[in-house]
Amino acid sequence: MAEQPTTTQPTAKYRADYQAPEYTITDIALEFDLHDTETHIVATSQIKRLADKQVPLVLDGDGLKLVRVEVNGEAWTDYAETDTGLTINGVPAEFELTIETEVNPEANTLLEGLYKSGGGFCTQCEAEGFRRITYYMDRPDVLARFTTKVIADKEAFPYLLSNGNRIDSGDLENGRHWVQWQDPFPKPSYLFALVAGDFDVLRDTYTTMSGRNVELEIFVDKGNLDRADYAMTSLINSMKWDEERFGLEYDLDIYMIVAVDFFNMGAMENKGLNVFNSKYVLANAATATDTDYQGIEAVIGHEYFHNWTGNRVTCRDWFQLSLKEGLTVFRDQEFSSDLGSRPVNRINNVRVVRGPQFAEDRGPMSHPIRPEKVIEMNNFYTLTVYEKGSEVIRMMHTLLGEQNFQAGMKLYFERHDGTAATCDDFVQAMEDASGIDLSRFRRWYSQAGTPVVNVATDYDAESKCYRVTVKQHTPPTAGQEEKLPLHIPFDIELYDSRGEVVELQCNGKKVHHVLDVTEAEQVFEFDNVEEKPVISMLREFSAPVVLEYNYSDDELAFLMVHARNEFARWDAGQILLAKYIRENVKRVQQGEAFELPASVVDAFRGVLLDEKLDPAFIAEMLTLPSENEVAGWYKTVDVDSIHAVVSQLKAVLASEMEDELSAIYQTLAQVEYSISHEAMAKRALRNTCLSYLANTENGDKLAAKQYKQSDNMTDTMAAMSAANNAGLACREEQMADFSEKWTHDGLVMDKWFILQGKNPAENALENVRNTMSHAAFDLKNPNRTRSLVASFCANNPVRFHAKDGSGYQFLTEILTALNASNPQVASRLIEPFLKYRQYDEQRQALMRAELEKLSKLENLAKDLFEKVHKALEQ
Ligand code: TRP
Ligand code: ZN
Repeated sequence: MAEQPTTTQPTAKYRADYQAPEYTITDIALEFDLHDTETHIVATSQIKRLADKQVPLVLDGDGLKLVRVEVNGEAWTDYAETDTGLTINGVPAEFELTIETEVNPEANTLLEGLYKSGGGFCTQCEAEGFRRITYYMDRPDVLARFTTKVIADKEAFPYLLSNGNRIDSGDLENGRHWVQWQDPFPKPSYLFALVAGDFDVLRDTYTTMSGRNVELEIFVDKGNLDRADYAMTSLINSMKWDEERFGLEYDLDIYMIVAVDFFNMGAMENKGLNVFNSKYVLANAATATDTDYQGIEAVIGHEYFHNWTGNRVTCRDWFQLSLKEGLTVFRDQEFSSDLGSRPVNRINNVRVVRGPQFAEDRGPMSHPIRPEKVIEMNNFYTLTVYEKGSEVIRMMHTLLGEQNFQAGMKLYFERHDGTAATCDDFVQAMEDASGIDLSRFRRWYSQAGTPVVNVATDYDAESKCYRVTVKQHTPPTAGQEEKLPLHIPFDIELYDSRGEVVELQCNGKKVHHVLDVTEAEQVFEFDNVEEKPVISMLREFSAPVVLEYNYSDDELAFLMVHARNEFARWDAGQILLAKYIRENVKRVQQGEAFELPASVVDAFRGVLLDEKLDPAFIAEMLTLPSENEVAGWYKTVDVDSIHAVVSQLKAVLASEMEDELSAIYQTLAQVEYSISHEAMAKRALRNTCLSYLANTENGDKLAAKQYKQSDNMTDTMAAMSAANNAGLACREEQMADFSEKWTHDGLVMDKWFILQGKNPAENALENVRNTMSHAAFDLKNPNRTRSLVASFCANNPVRFHAKDGSGYQFLTEILTALNASNPQVASRLIEPFLKYRQYDEQRQALMRAELEKLSKLENLAKDLFEKVHKALEQ
């Protein structure tokens, strides 16, 4: 008889179960004796009981070899090793605990805890990685002062780094040396970091607003010094911006950033020692696109801003993650908007919310920005917590205004600096500082899903009254059936037929343009409206909701020209495109031909030819919604029809505007490369023109020529993307040439891997499989894997969803391999499977079968377990 395997099912934690810690750790001294396969760590902690009676000390630990335990310097034997750590019995109310553990950094493919990246050692502790270094109270509400001594071979690892200030160093026999660091700010374990290696260092200094000097150091792999300048500039800009806009100053004498090649996420805000995915540090004209530069600025800013929103005030528990992430994303978005183009930044942030974040809300992992139930914390570093979390902060900013909002920030720091806080603490500070009632607003923290706001308008010429009826409802989400009305800041503007703004009045009194929508249904009446106006709504995307309103083509074309702010003009263009995409999907499904009225083409031609507009903004106006975003408009997604319609829309616009696109393409050629905003804006529009022109007869010639003449990666990639998307003849030669030139550089090759993944050709999967044996590919490197596999599975819907299920089988193979080596990365790649219910029955059945296969994997990691089971249960 077959034996039942005794699998322990992963258990969930609930926000409601939070309990204050029974002990706290005030100080910890760490000593690392670094060796590739056997690193010893001695942790000496000062521990105090907080509970009022004797209780065992329960420490977290994962994958550790325990060497010894001492209490107050004496060997201690009254402890038990458990599945989740170490329980120490009979300890006094206040004592010193010494624990020695051993780990194997070289075998650590999870990239969590202490691991090797390239030749060096580094750590990643958020969220729960510190327990893979030593047994500890690995929870964010235990804040300790850290002292860290790092010992390693001097020749191989000349730089030994940790948090805080370097206080001592020395040489040992056998060619080893040591450095000691001290971080004066108490911090939770997730902010601990250690790096050891050989680097090139870019140095600079920054003088803070109070006149203190801060040493700035960026560590990159040897030979990469010429790629660190933009990161340094961005760091200095971040420090300055946080002083000017938020009044926040840096607090240590040194700020270090290390770029590593093996990293699960973008970057990590460890106190005084940020560890970055090299993708968000390394850039020069030859290797990085303008988008890469923008990513570096945003992520350098993001991690820097965490020093106050995350580190000085941290999270009480991981359910509060959005407290630091939503707020810090809001801050980095504001930073990029203040330094660059606000409308372009807003447009791109909104695209992420309306696309992938709304998609998350529709899937089985749907959760509020403050989740209630978590199995694997790493699964909750989501678009909802980060991007929707930022929208929630932005809504408070809209409701309070900049001044009140900054008063709220000040109060928040006064109350919570040096402590671990909750989301509610933040809202309370905003409420107390402004006197604005946020009681209903708080529902944004507990309610999941995307609200739908339905609007009807009506104009009465006789009474000159314009009536706006606003209804809101939120469709049920996984595990949350009942939904309540939310407090929605609803920003509107009215225009008369000449495009002038109509002042909003109610009973003769001026009213604010941000309406407080708080009920399921509300009517807003405006009087003294002389003629039927055109209404612009949800301006600046004032709330993360779906807007339903029956705009006519004429109104949308009018708003594309007359709306006062650029975001609203872009949005009107998007609504117009959406109308005709939907209509043509229907036509294609009924076997009819694609159709687009000349008036729609003319509206976009008008934008293209408007010389008063910022070229970067025109480029956004002309960017069509992605196939994934379109998919989100349907209950049942027809990937093939959507692909056909989006492609035809592009081709039709290209042929109808070919002359204008060509003329602008030629005019915008630049003689000298620069990364100024102006130069980037011109490249953006020129390359958007190229992406259209690729669909015309001249396309192949243009893309081939641009590739050959390009002196920068932006133009090179634009030529290659155009060739890839349109299947141009020059594609093969470009791909071969690029691969030959860059095989030695994985970071640059990622761009090539992405193109292979997104290749619309019928044999895309075969190419992707072949690409896995490319010399630069490595399934153990998350950047490589994401570039090739995620771009195919998540961003090449037609090929991934091939009817024969071949794409699905491929993803299962990859997930099976990564489940063992790096489940955190696997858990991100599985996302396309979770949406299986949105496809036709045949595809649903195929994807479901793959999910079932995965659910039966031996040693299924918690990360995948949580998602697979939710998807199957839903
Ligand atoms: N706190 C990091 C940030 O948002 C996120 C992060 C980096 C992370 N590495 C991680 C989260 C590993 C979980 C696991 O900036
Ligand atoms: Zn963050």
